[in-house]
Amino acid sequence: MNEISVGILGTGKYVPERRLTNQDLEKMVDTNDEWIVSRTGMRERRIAAPEQATSDLAYEASLQALQAAGLTADQIDLIIVATITPDMFFPSTACLLQEKLGAKNAAAFDLSAACSGFIYGLANATGFIKMGMYKHVLVVGAECLSRITDYTDRNTSILFGDGAGAVVLGQVPEGRGFKSFKLGADGAGGDLLRICGGGSRLPSSEQSVNEKRHFIEMNGRDVFKFAVRVMGSAAEEALAHAGYTKADIDLLIPHQANIRIIQSALERLNLSEDKAMINLDRYGNMSAASIPLALAEAVEEGRVNEGDCLVLVGFGGGLTWGASVLIW
Ligand code: ACO
Repeated sequence: MNEISVGILGTGKYVPERRLTNQDLEKMVDTNDEWIVSRTGMRERRIAAPEQATSDLAYEASLQALQAAGLTADQIDLIIVATITPDMFFPSTACLLQEKLGAKNAAAFDLSAACSGFIYGLANATGFIKMGMYKHVLVVGAECLSRITDYTDRNTSILFGDGAGAVVLGQVPEGRGFKSFKLGADGAGGDLLRICGGGSRLPSSEQSVNEKRHFIEMNGRDVFKFAVRVMGSAAEEALAHAGYTKADIDLLIPHQANIRIIQSALERLNLSEDKAMINLDRYGNMSAASIPLALAEAVEEGRVNEGDCLVLVGFGGGLTWGASVLIW
């Protein structure tokens, strides 16, 4: 019997209404629009309303993905939420989402791989479906990074935004769907990008909060170098594993961390900028939500056609990285 082909049946996205512009940030920290645009490509980000948490953003994106897939919530067998900003330690955001959706037949778990989380989630979901355990899996990348960002730190506050993207995976016609995954990790670089406070090593205390250990700490320069190195190589390895070449790529869906990182990946892959989906100017870096949201927008804008070769590629805290080749 031939192996099942697994692909995307529907996509969805959600961003909160409030915009945080570079001009707003100029009033908050010592920075300016010219610096932010030239160093990152970012112009504005979305910020969740006070009453919104990650599962609320995930819910809106999931409703759209279910509708696009033509499925009801009770037809979902598994929910995977990739996030570094869960509503709470536990229950998982995936369980909170399951309840909101009424996806009563679904198992549910969260996945922690920072900005690579969505690609890790896709790989998991594909494996479950290929082994015949589940038919339909909802994979969500959702973040409220504004809740873990120090808005007095100009190194990090300019980068992050809130949002969610979701996809439903299931069987697709032979020849289409996910052709390969390349996942990687390098725990030795964990201290380049992290939050120490509030975990079992440094439980929340008055001191940990005063020292701002509950916010993102980042060595931007070293993360940048790592990202430039890994984005191109992960994409190339995923292509080789699938039996494709750079010339086959119709659209690159990269993690939206910095325009200069995306440009260096494009250079390595011999692609022009119009071959990449770029929306970081409007949303900033939304960690696990960036790739699914960029994919959902590419679909919405009619940039993805049947049979197209898409490469999804990202990197993030951990350190982690992931790439996948998807025939639409
Ligand atoms: N406005 C003005 N000046 C600034 C700002 C700012 N917002 N931020 C830093 N600077 C200053 C620095 O202090 C430094 O000044 P100095 O030379 O006097 O020390 C100067 O600008 C240059 O700083 P660099 O850090 O070298 O700037 P760089 O060009 O590397 O850009 C940036 C910084 C944008 C953070 C870049 O390194 C980057 O994008 N790194 C990757 C970050 C990333 O992708 N993080 C992923 C997070 S994903 C996740 O898992 C959550």
